[in-house]
Amino acid sequence: MPRLTEKEQQEIIRYIEADKPLPDEYRFLLFEDKREVELVWNGKTNEICNIVLPFQVIEQVDEPRAEKDTRIQRTLFDLDNRGRQLKGWTNKLIWGDNKLILSSLKNGPLREEIEAQGGIKLIYIDPPFDVGADFSMDIEIGDDTFTKKPNILEEIAYRDTWGNGADSFIAMIYERLVLMRDLLAEEGSIYVHCDWRVNHHMRQVLDEVFGRENFLNEVIWGYFSFKRKTAKKFPQKHDDIISYRKSKHSFIWNTQFKPHSNEYLKRWKTDNNGRRYRDDVNPTAGGARIIYLDEIEGDIVDSVWDDIPPVNPQAIERVNFPTQKPEALLERVIKASSNEGDLVVDVFCGSGTTAAVAEKLGRKWIVTDLGKFAIHTTRKRMIGVQRQLKAEGKGYRAFEILNLGKYERQHYIGINPNLREAEQQKQLEEKEAAFVDLILRAYRAEKVDGFTTFHGKRAGRMVSIGPINMPVTRLFVEEIILECRKKHISRVDILGFEFEMGLFPNVLDEARSKGIDIAPKYIPAEVFDKRAVEKNQVVFHDVAAIEVKPLFKKSSIAVELTDFSVFYSQDSVATAETTLKNKASKIVAEHGQIVKVSKDKDGIVSREVLTKHWTDWIDYWAVDFNFESKREIVRVRNEEIGEWEEVWTGDYIFENEWQSFRTKKDRSLELKSVYHECKPGRRKLAVKVVDIFGNDTMTIIEVNVGENR
Ligand SMILES: C[S@@+](CC[C@H](N)C(=O)[O-])C[C@H]1O[C@@H](n2cnc3c(N)ncnc32)[C@H](O)[C@@H]1O
Repeated sequence: MPRLTEKEQQEIIRYIEADKPLPDEYRFLLFEDKREVELVWNGKTNEICNIVLPFQVIEQVDEPRAEKDTRIQRTLFDLDNRGRQLKGWTNKLIWGDNKLILSSLKNGPLREEIEAQGGIKLIYIDPPFDVGADFSMDIEIGDDTFTKKPNILEEIAYRDTWGNGADSFIAMIYERLVLMRDLLAEEGSIYVHCDWRVNHHMRQVLDEVFGRENFLNEVIWGYFSFKRKTAKKFPQKHDDIISYRKSKHSFIWNTQFKPHSNEYLKRWKTDNNGRRYRDDVNPTAGGARIIYLDEIEGDIVDSVWDDIPPVNPQAIERVNFPTQKPEALLERVIKASSNEGDLVVDVFCGSGTTAAVAEKLGRKWIVTDLGKFAIHTTRKRMIGVQRQLKAEGKGYRAFEILNLGKYERQHYIGINPNLREAEQQKQLEEKEAAFVDLILRAYRAEKVDGFTTFHGKRAGRMVSIGPINMPVTRLFVEEIILECRKKHISRVDILGFEFEMGLFPNVLDEARSKGIDIAPKYIPAEVFDKRAVEKNQVVFHDVAAIEVKPLFKKSSIAVELTDFSVFYSQDSVATAETTLKNKASKIVAEHGQIVKVSKDKDGIVSREVLTKHWTDWIDYWAVDFNFESKREIVRVRNEEIGEWEEVWTGDYIFENEWQSFRTKKDRSLELKSVYHECKPGRRKLAVKVVDIFGNDTMTIIEVNVGENR
């Protein structure tokens, strides 16, 4: 019998001719699919990202902090005389969208390195499962709090995750879970943290990706917190942590124990020697037996975890990250499903809890996040962990911070992936043109044609606009330099939403040496606000500037930080003054100052500058005492011979040798580094400053150390 009757075939044709969607029942008639229960969402596809983008190392932290003449050789590995780890695995903290990172890890050259470590044994993820938890963040300044709005990249990620509610969340997580499954080692497992908002979808998606037979647990993490009587249902006071193994044949499992409850202990008797015991039935030989309390390992941890409190505001481990999870929770997960030396991964790392616990437990790690603030929080936290382990005489590994190097135009915002290629291209061109027009209008620049990298000009300078959904990369700037040289252009403004970390100042110096003056500027989010554009209120602020002074002592050198300027703007004082209600206040950032604008009960306005000193903007700074000593090598595929090759990018890696930063407990900052002993002669020093929002800037100075100075 044919699968479709004549009538059904005719009906399908009629629907197609009328350009109408087919009724649902045809799904089961038309497609060959054995799945009986399946989660379907709008836009579901089997297409999984397979792009490989190169990873660029932008910073390396071998030792937490080089103190003068102190070199305790206590890391897991040998160190050279600058404290560099000479061999072994280097942990990885990667900034970028985890879809591109996972796909590049899976299909790119790092995969080999991962497999050489035995593969990824454990993945824990805690994706943003609460629609309200976006990328804005609260920064404490004195007694006040400034809420930094998300940048454009973060807003796009937020829209990708929540734009169509649950549909887009599931689509986002589905593709990433498939990539994670493919990356996991055969004996590996995955833990997914979520709550009542998405746990029902998550179980089904995980069933589909990992197979129902590989389900391990749905852990209920019950946390104690304030309950309201007004809630007309039982207060929701637990999260779910759902775990799956990759394969049922073998997987890592270590039973976990916790102390027995007092209730349980009351049931034990005490013998003449003070030992606690109880009578029991011998399960194998039959008859009675006695078991002693000190002979059993404790209470086996089951799937209800009610003994781990959330990170409270006073907790020592708290790093002021809103969704931070407790270390004890991760400790249980990591101990149960990995062994010492195993590689553990978290691609939504936030404040870096997984990395911190993995390091303390002697595991290797790769963690990633899209938020710069998250990456910076994790960097500080991991340096703190290294310092702690060093002080305790324990081992730790070096870590590096990486970027995704080259982004592709195809990832352009809002291009409908279901369109045919030619239509996608058309849509891309239209969107790009509209975007360029918008930015040029806001920047008050005139449009130009006939250039590859320039879009406009203003006041005798060419204007180049960076991509909308990705950072301006070094490759992008290098193309600009090339066109400048070809067409004898010497002054350029580059407008970008984000700049790749560690991009400046090297590339600007390179341009300057060729007679080209490049000024990078941030495009503020207000460009999308029509009224702000019409009123000429959009300020394109410069990237921050650092001033330092070298200090010499015989053959040693130290650095003093003497100035730091930030030009960040968010909202304006004038707008706040006109829109504020009486008896209200608002904190805005304008031209690099954070200002509290208040209106009293009579409508009288007052302003208070909260960033009183330039140091108030600094959260962290670090020094590399010999910048040009570690070349940045990337592995690129040589298509002719079909192999990966190592190529020097022409740049150097910032080796974080000394650093000072503020912590929740200690808000102070040193402004002079320690003296660093070095070989006489000329060398370049690099100083990196990270502001309170997690944005980093670097400066390089050339010095002459020792007798020939
Ligand atoms: C719930 S938080 C993780 C908190 C973390 N478990 C901790 O203990 O601090 C989720 C994180 O996912 C990150 N994120 C959201 N979308 C992302 C994406 N597409 N790629 C990478 N990270 C992303 C956010 O920046 C946020 O830091």
